[in-house]
Amino acid sequence: MRHRPTVWLVIPVIALALLGGVLTWQQRHGHSRSFLEGDPVNGAFLFEAKGCSHCHAISGSGGHIASDLGGVTPFGSPNLGELVTSMWNHAPDMWRRMQEEGVQIAPMNEGEVRDLFAFLYLARYIDEPGDVARGRLLFESKGCIQCHAVRGQGGKIGPDLAAISGIDTPIEWAQALWNHAPAMEKNMSRVGVSWPHFEKSEMNDLLAYVREVVVGPRSEAKLLPADARHGRELFNKSCVVCHAVHGEGGHRGPDLTSAGQSPMSMVQFAGVMWNHSPQMYQAMNASGIQRPVFGGQEMADLMAFFNSLLYFEANGSVEAGRELFTSRGCGRCHGTNAQGTSLGPALGGRGRYFNSVALAAAFWRHGPEMYRRTETLGIPWPKLQENDLGDLFAFLNAKRE
Ligand code: HEC
Ligand code: HEC
Ligand code: HEC
Ligand code: HEC
Repeated sequence: MRHRPTVWLVIPVIALALLGGVLTWQQRHGHSRSFLEGDPVNGAFLFEAKGCSHCHAISGSGGHIASDLGGVTPFGSPNLGELVTSMWNHAPDMWRRMQEEGVQIAPMNEGEVRDLFAFLYLARYIDEPGDVARGRLLFESKGCIQCHAVRGQGGKIGPDLAAISGIDTPIEWAQALWNHAPAMEKNMSRVGVSWPHFEKSEMNDLLAYVREVVVGPRSEAKLLPADARHGRELFNKSCVVCHAVHGEGGHRGPDLTSAGQSPMSMVQFAGVMWNHSPQMYQAMNASGIQRPVFGGQEMADLMAFFNSLLYFEANGSVEAGRELFTSRGCGRCHGTNAQGTSLGPALGGRGRYFNSVALAAAFWRHGPEMYRRTETLGIPWPKLQENDLGDLFAFLNAKRE
């Protein structure tokens, strides 16, 4: 009891310091935008209006001159970086084809690219690849089947998962797991099941199985466009006491942007939150913090916020980015420090923030001129590898003296 007065004084001071930290951090990163903020309905319209559908199909419908951009792809990995990389690498073929077909390269601004990506996300990433057969085994081995039935087969303590329509998309799934985790934990300790953990792709496999059995329409489209700004408010309200982003915020839990964290998809993110759920809940109880429950758009907004932090994209190293900027040939025209030369403009240090969407937008607009420049100089089109993007963004976004 005699600690009380100091505690009351310390809490507001910490809160103010945190708020200050978050505000400065927001100013620095305020201009990053996430594809989840795009409007997929407008994206579908643009896919047609900008001529993409002349050559590309989405899950079978559209043109068949170039590859189908919908559904599960041969790449397997469910991130947008891979889409941008592959568009970048194939661009000269694409432009040549456009010339042959007499299709103009329609200009697109960043907002339009974001809408288009939101649409491609829904067409493609909603079906994050997973292995249905492995998912069915996991449903048993992780103990879900003890409490949950699927079409009547299984436990009756929790609801039949096949009957919950719309639960089988990444955002809805993450939200359902988060909201119901405490009740599940209580039931697990009652029946003596220990909290199961999921390794890297296991949550994808499990969701692939759930997707196979759930009946009813998917509802993720109505969650977009998501509002990253509102997501940031939710984060500040519910998470920042314990979690930092880019070093600023609380430290009771891990920094959610700490370097070296491998990129994850949204479904993997749901798995990571699930894994840590009991400890997190304990920490909240210990600190007298009410556990937040999310509804409506809120999880989508929170995801959009994390996405704007590049949480679902590769994190990288500035040094590795600098090296590959030279080794892939970008430095030849843009300068080894991306400071610009007579052959190409400066890219870094101009207060611009690069992520997949920003790169795709810049590339769509300036790529053809860049390509002409490589032809004039007689150098090959500089190709990127999928793993390059994180390092490249780290390098381009780094502060310059
Ligand atoms: C005139 C035909 C044409 C048009 C129009 C066109 N593309 Fe392409 N696109 C291609 C070709 C050809 C390729 C190279 C290889 C392939 O995917 O077939 C390609 C490749 C791509 C890739 C890489 C896909 C992969 O499988 O590697 C993406 C992503 C892409 N285009 C997106 C778009 C978008 C978005 C639009 C509209 C803004 C668009 N394309 C318009 C012909 C076209
Ligand atoms: C010990 C029993 C138990 C186990 C084991 C269990 N659950 Fe649950 N689950 C429940 C209960 C009870 C609820 C309802 C909780 C509530 O009302 O908040 C629930 C709710 C859910 C929901 C939300 C359903 C809705 O209404 O939106 C999902 C999704 C879910 N569980 C998935 C899983 C998965 C995946 C596993 C295996 C990794 C699992 N559960 C293991 C008891 C369990
Ligand atoms: C009371 C403190 C507290 C609050 C509030 C809190 N967390 Fe946590 N969180 C933790 C702790 C502690 C861990 C580490 C648990 C462990 O060691 O298993 C954690 C772990 C995590 C992880 C796993 C991180 C990793 O890299 O392994 C994620 C993701 C996460 N939390 C997200 C959130 C989100 C999103 C919110 C807000 C909606 C939130 N947390 C609110 C304390 C908290
Ligand atoms: C042959 C010279 C050359 C090479 C090699 C080159 N670029 Fe460019 N790049 C240019 C030129 C010229 C422009 C500006 C085109 C314009 O004005 O439309 C440009 C524009 C850009 C832009 C858009 C800039 C803006 O203001 O939005 C980005 C991003 C970019 N390049 C990235 C790269 C990356 C990444 C590489 C390596 C993989 C690379 N470039 C390789 C010449 C080059």
